[in-house]
This record gives sequence, structure tokens and C-alpha cells, in this order.
Amino acid sequence: MTTTLITGIGELITNDRARGDGTALGIVRDAALVIEGERVAWVGAAADAPAADASVDVAGRAVVPGFVDSHTHLVFAGERSAEFAARMAGEPYTGGGIMTTVAATRAATRDELHANTRVLADEMLSLGTTTVEIKSGYGLTVADEVKLLEVARGFTEETTFLGAHVVPAEYAHERAAYVALVCGEMLKACAPLARWIDVFCDTGAFDEEETRAVLAAGVSAGLLPRLHGNQLEHGPGVQLAAEFGAASVDHCTHLTDDDIGALRDSGVVATLLPGADFSTRSLYSDARALLDAGVTVALASDCNPGSSYVTSMPFCIALAVREMRMTPAEALYAATAGGAAALRRSDVGHVAPGAAADLVVLDAPNHVHLAYRPAGRVVAQVWKQGIRIL
Ligand code: NIG
Ligand code: FE
Repeated sequence: MTTTLITGIGELITNDRARGDGTALGIVRDAALVIEGERVAWVGAAADAPAADASVDVAGRAVVPGFVDSHTHLVFAGERSAEFAARMAGEPYTGGGIMTTVAATRAATRDELHANTRVLADEMLSLGTTTVEIKSGYGLTVADEVKLLEVARGFTEETTFLGAHVVPAEYAHERAAYVALVCGEMLKACAPLARWIDVFCDTGAFDEEETRAVLAAGVSAGLLPRLHGNQLEHGPGVQLAAEFGAASVDHCTHLTDDDIGALRDSGVVATLLPGADFSTRSLYSDARALLDAGVTVALASDCNPGSSYVTSMPFCIALAVREMRMTPAEALYAATAGGAAALRRSDVGHVAPGAAADLVVLDAPNHVHLAYRPAGRVVAQVWKQGIRIL
């Protein structure tokens, strides 16, 4: 297998406390690393680097693990700029617009959806996202949810069945029948295409009992649980996530002290979605309270056409630092190792021998520039599974 030496790394973020400067980011200065095939083979001081078949000198730039975006709704058709404009003029976000995207997505062919997703996935990759999770949830019929998951499967193994996104209009007067469909025929068709089961557990979406039914059915079908919870109002999302041993509960905007305690005690990751808080002009999640309590925090984009048409993890990092009071180091860790924890992945989100060679070279001497220079061209190179794609 060919080996490539990346040298001249001013600051290497390994996310391995033991390997670097003793902080969570595990910073190694004046570093080098060797890629062998799809994996990292060696990490250390540039002065000690072994020989390799090829060599790339990054001239003092910082290298960070590829971003792990653990929450997206990337497969959809259409757009909702009018809804965004109305919100910016004072309308609240309700999730009611989801049906607008459902109508457009049902009308789209698999090829059209694949092409739309390709554009967004490429944009994300060029911004440093090397692992992405993708949910269904804009089909809401058996055939359409299958269509979305088949498209999602073309981009990632981290696919999530979100048939319980909202109750579609045609079931508005028979909610129980829709929940039964999700737990029955729809789950049966979708489970082979998904790793995860998710429910939008919130006001205007699914309540505690419905959420419990869908999660239980999903787990019985072999899927791993995760949840949308506590976005629009306080609700039972966090407690249910703890009860089911979910990998993550996402949004976490409205939390009580009990919720924070439950997250800490259960080890469920709190995935914060600053792009959604930004684009719905809502309260930002209180990352500081979560981190200070010892909860594992992840940052993700929530990319979707309604609440967060955001592909950029660097933008999410900048928002989390400015608006959620995370330090630049905490935000970077949450966008890499945090995302990996939220997806229960040990091969991504850090840089060590054996890990995937997923790397972002910053056009900057250190990682702080991700938040310090928002919306600039901070990502200089992207490597995914040992291949340079930017
Ligand atoms: O995570 N909150 C639920 N679902 C998405 C929004 C979907 C939409 O508005 O289209 C979210 O924010
Ligand atoms: Fe979401």
C-alpha cells in the first residue's frame, strides 16, 4: 500500500489527550503523520517522521480531524426561502413547513433526489465534513421513505429512518394509524436500509407515548435509537433518550436541570444544532451548562431546507463559540470527536494510527481560526480515507 507523509504541520489536533499536550484536543506541535491506504499509520514529531512513498508539506498549517456531521436531512427537493423570510419578519418556526418539503420530495424521482443530495454532500466535503449522517423523513409513505433511504445509502452508511418526523396531512385525523404504519410496514421496509431509528419528539410532532412506541419498534427491528428532542419546547425527549440508551438526543434547546443530570448519568450525547437556532431565530442551546455538568456535546449542521439550510461545520463551530459560549477548543472537539460519539464510531473524529485518514488542513496556523475567521476560506485541504479531495 502506498504511504504518504504529511509534514510541516504547525499544530496537529489528535483529540487524544495522551498523545499531545494533555488537553482534550491532544495538540502536537511541529508534527507529521503518515497515511497508509485509507488509514493513518503513524503520528508524531516532524523530526521523527519515517520515510514514505510521497510527501506533502503543509507549511506550518494546522491539521484537524475531518468533521463528523452526525445530524442532517440531506435528501429533499425544493426550498423554503419564503418561510425563512417570514420568520425573519417575525413569524415563529413551528415545523409545519415540513409538509411543504414532503410534497416536493414525494414528487421528485430518485435520480433528482440523488442529484440534489450530491450537490449538498460535495459542498459539505469541500468544507471539511468527512463523515455525514443522513435521515429520511420527507417521504412519510412506505415507498417514499424507502426512496429517501436508498438515496441516502449512496452517500453514507450512517442512515437514519425518520418516518416519525411529523404526521402527514392525510393522517391528520388518524394519528394512531400513522404511528402503527411507521412501527409496522414502513419500519419493515426501511430497517434494512438504516442503522438508526429517530423520532421528532416535540410539540406539533410526536408525544411521549408515540415516541416510545416508535423507538421500541425500531430497536426490535435491530436499529439503534437517537432522538430529536427539546427543540421547540421542553418535553420528554431527553428522558426518553436516557430510558432507551440512545446514542444522542439532538437540539436540546429547552432543558431542565433534571434533563442535564439525566444526560450526564446516562452518557447520552447532547447534539447541539446552532444552525437551526440561527435560522429559526430561537434561543441557542446552553452548551456551557451541559459541558460544565460533564455531558458529552456534539455539534452538527442539521442541514435541511426548513430550519437550517446550513452545510458548513466551520460556521456551526463559529456560532457555537459566539452564541453558545463554547471555547474554540470545545467546539472543534464537539464537531469531530463529539460527532463520532454521537454516531458511536471509534474510527473517525480523531487522528491516531488505525483511524481513518480523514483530515482537514486549515489555511491557518491553529484551530482557533475556525471561529476567529468565520465565513472565510479557512479550509485549505480535505483528505477522506487517505485521498485528497480538495
Ligand atoms: O431537525 N425539527 C425537526 N426536523 C428538522 C426540521 C425539518 C424542517 O423544518 O424541514 C430539524 O430542525
Ligand atoms: Fe433535524
